[in-house]
This record gives sequence, C-alpha cells and structure tokens, in this order.
Amino acid sequence: MKILGIETSCDETAAAVVEDGVRVVSNVVATSLKDHQQFGGIIPEIASRRQIEFIHWVVAESLSKAQLTLDGIDAIAVTRAPGLIGSLLVGLCFARALSRATGKPLIEIDHIKAHLYANYLQFKPELKACPQERLPAIGLVVSGGHSSLFLVKDFKTFKLLGSTRDDAAGEAFDKVARILDLGYPGGPVIDRLSAQGVNDEIKFPQAPLTGSFDFSFSGTKTAVLYYTQKHKDKPGYSPAKVAYSFQESVVSVLVEKSLKACKKFKVNTLLIGGGVAANSALRRRLAEQAIGSGIDVFFPPMALCLDNAAMIAGLGYHWQQL
Ligand code: KG4
Ligand code: ZN
Repeated sequence: MKILGIETSCDETAAAVVEDGVRVVSNVVATSLKDHQQFGGIIPEIASRRQIEFIHWVVAESLSKAQLTLDGIDAIAVTRAPGLIGSLLVGLCFARALSRATGKPLIEIDHIKAHLYANYLQFKPELKACPQERLPAIGLVVSGGHSSLFLVKDFKTFKLLGSTRDDAAGEAFDKVARILDLGYPGGPVIDRLSAQGVNDEIKFPQAPLTGSFDFSFSGTKTAVLYYTQKHKDKPGYSPAKVAYSFQESVVSVLVEKSLKACKKFKVNTLLIGGGVAANSALRRRLAEQAIGSGIDVFFPPMALCLDNAAMIAGLGYHWQQL
C-alpha cells in the first residue's frame, strides 16, 4: 500500500510517499525558515503564506520522485494537529480536495505521535521486520512546540504520561540562543557550540517536578538570562560554557524522566522523536545510560527528526489498517 503524506503544521511544507508503513519512496521538504530568521522565531502569517506557495510543487515533486501519479496512490495522510492554524489549514484543505477529487481515502494524523513513528522508517531490520513487536514502548517527543512522554501501546493508543508545563525543550533552546545572540533556530547552534564549552563551573537549576512525568524548562532559561546579564562583560565569560551548561541541564532531565518511565511501566524500548532528537548530547547520554538499564533506545535518522511527511504517511498506514 502506497500512502501520500502531507505535512504543513509549521514552517515546513512536506510531502512523501511511503510504502507499507516503512519504506520511504520519496520525501520532499520545503521550508520558509530563512524568512523567519530575522525575527528570531516563526511568524505564523509568513509561514502560512509560504505554505500556499509551496504546497502544490512539493506534492507534485514527491509523486514525481516516486515515479507515480495520483492513480498509483492508495490513500492520503495529512497532519491534522497540533500546529499553527494557518499552516495546518493549507495542508488539510489541499489533502481533502485531493481526496475528494480522486476518491482516495483521507487519513488525518496527529503530528506529535507521527514524530515517534519516524523511528519505524529507518533501516533497522529488527524494527522493520515487525514494528509491533517493539511495543509497548515509552516515547519522548521533544520539539520546538512540545515536550511529551507517552506510553505507546500500539500505533493507535498513545497514553500521555507527562508534558511541559511551560516552554517546550526546543523552545528553551531557541530562547537561550536568542539570549546568547546565536540566531534562530537555537538547537543546532547550541549543540555545536557546547562541544567547545565543556565545564564544571556553571550549573543551571532544573525543575525535577518529583513524582510527575511533566517537564519545566522556563526556570533554567531564566537562570541563563540572569547569569548572562551578570557576567557577559566580565573577563572569562564564555557563551560556549553557558551553552554547554544549559544543554546539560535540559538533557539530564529528559534522560532521567524517560528512563524512569521505562522502569515504571516495565518497558525496554524507548523511542525519541522531534527536532531536539537531533541533539548530540541527548543521543550520547541516552545511549550510555540506557545500556546500563537494559533499555534499547531508538532515534529517527537525522533527516526524519525534523518535520517531514514520511512520518505522517508511515503512521497513516497503521490508522488505515487497524
Ligand atoms: O520537530 P521540529 O522540526 O518542529 C516542531 O514540531 O516544533 O523541531 C524544531 C526544534 C527547534 O526548536 C530547534 O531548535 C530544535 O528542534 N532542534 C534542536 C537541534 N536541532 C533542532 N535542539 C537541540 N539540538 C539540536 N541539534
Ligand atoms: Zn514537529
């Protein structure tokens, strides 16, 4: 079964063709990121206007790369929520119109759950052979808009265990990058800069929220702001050290809560998804600590950590089948 996926929840306009829920036949992503950079964050009005400009070309390109026409597609999957309403509407209306015109079934997909599904699109034989056998799993979605822990029972049953009470993890990275004057998006640049700032001197507070699987990152972000205001004109001030200590603070909470959830629910598979899943410290720490706990950790390939339509088409397969 070949599913055409469409994703337009934020600043990426994406379309992909995925076969049988696992094989990515084509994966096309256009982004308006450059138009937002001067503002230090996504401007919803600009994002939705670019979606309108890109959508037709992106869908046509994904079909062409898959060497297919709409006749060769079995169903259309589209992101329904969450996201910026103007951006979402472009993809939803386009997909609904395609479905009406062609008579192909339409499957509306949750963007956050699809981020976790991106793990099943990689070339890991143990996952691809029978993805269901890796379930139940704990899923951590960390992106610019969300930080959530799920108990994934099957591809239709995601139990929310906890989420952020304030900033999402990626949002905290973006805001700290702004404080440090590093540009937007902040995650990749903080990730790179941290490698030059390894230190033991600066510690930023965490909000452990003991007894809960919720997260809170705004206190850590504010501590970075106060530290920077106080020290930035003093000798020895190093943005790289600040970036490193901030990253450590966020990553250690994410690692600790994810592994705790695995233990509590007696699950030995941990799926990570969302833009922050690209973070090298998170990948390293989880890999190290999970081994000791007998837990297998899975990250999507880098290209599928960020917003894409392959994850929408992939999850769409299971919503169509079950
Ligand atoms: O999943 P995504 O593309 O969009 C949302 O659904 O939000 O995630 C974008 C977020 C941004 O906040 C960006 O700063 C963050 O992912 N990000 C990273 C890294 N690469 C992207 N955060 C930390 N380390 C990275 N290497
Ligand atoms: Zn996303």
